[in-house]
Amino acid sequence: MKDSLIIALDFPGKSQVMEFLKPFEQEQLFVKVGMELFYAEGPSIIEELKKQNHKIFLDLKLHDIPNTVKSAMKVLAGLNCDLVNVHAAGGLEMMAAAIEGLDAGTPSGLKRPDCIAVTQLTSTSEIQVNSEQLIGVSLQESVLNYAALAKKSGLNGVVCSPYEARFIQGQLGTEFLTVTPGIRPAASSQQDQKRTATPEFAREQGISAIVVGRPITRAANPLESYLKIKNEWKGVYQ
Ligand code: C5P
Repeated sequence: MKDSLIIALDFPGKSQVMEFLKPFEQEQLFVKVGMELFYAEGPSIIEELKKQNHKIFLDLKLHDIPNTVKSAMKVLAGLNCDLVNVHAAGGLEMMAAAIEGLDAGTPSGLKRPDCIAVTQLTSTSEIQVNSEQLIGVSLQESVLNYAALAKKSGLNGVVCSPYEARFIQGQLGTEFLTVTPGIRPAASSQQDQKRTATPEFAREQGISAIVVGRPITRAANPLESYLKIKNEWKGVYQ
């Protein structure tokens, strides 16, 4: 899990995913399957990706009553993914139930998937935290509060912005995973991400894993782009 570069497979369906993966036959990847792809293809897409030996982050951001999340996680654990997630806003009991479900559903002999929490979405502003959620603290304090609840519930870490990771690990320890999207190689387009960071900055912050989508999936040469970003992330300069 640590030091992983996770490719966000934000494609509408299996055929586009398989086409994208063709040049990566020699690489064992860590890929992220989000709502769009999972809702379009169902669990079979996970089986396909597992057949190709890739590690999988199933990014479905569960948020419901504890019993429902527990049952859903029991099913997801059977898919043999490596990483899953929930919204910390669901509360301590819901997050603890997610872990119980994962423990119950993990086939014997296999490792339970790591589970991380979304704290505040990176699309949420401090104004929204204060005036829509009626939370009277700063965005950073709210993120830290949710991260601390996630740790207390037995979760393995959080999804966070590259600019929050060091602060979170400073408070909750470096074993607590920080998984950060919004990564852009130096001198590339930000697309709709607002506060982007380079892979090198992510490494310097001690971030556990980075999630990269369009800089790889939309590149003219995805394999070349992947290898370049991976080298920047690992600190390998040729
Ligand atoms: O293409 P790009 O590199 O921006 O993709 C980032 C991926 O990370 C997308 O799948 C997006 O949904 C996800 N993500 C994000 N910000 C969050 C949580 C998830 O960009 N806070």
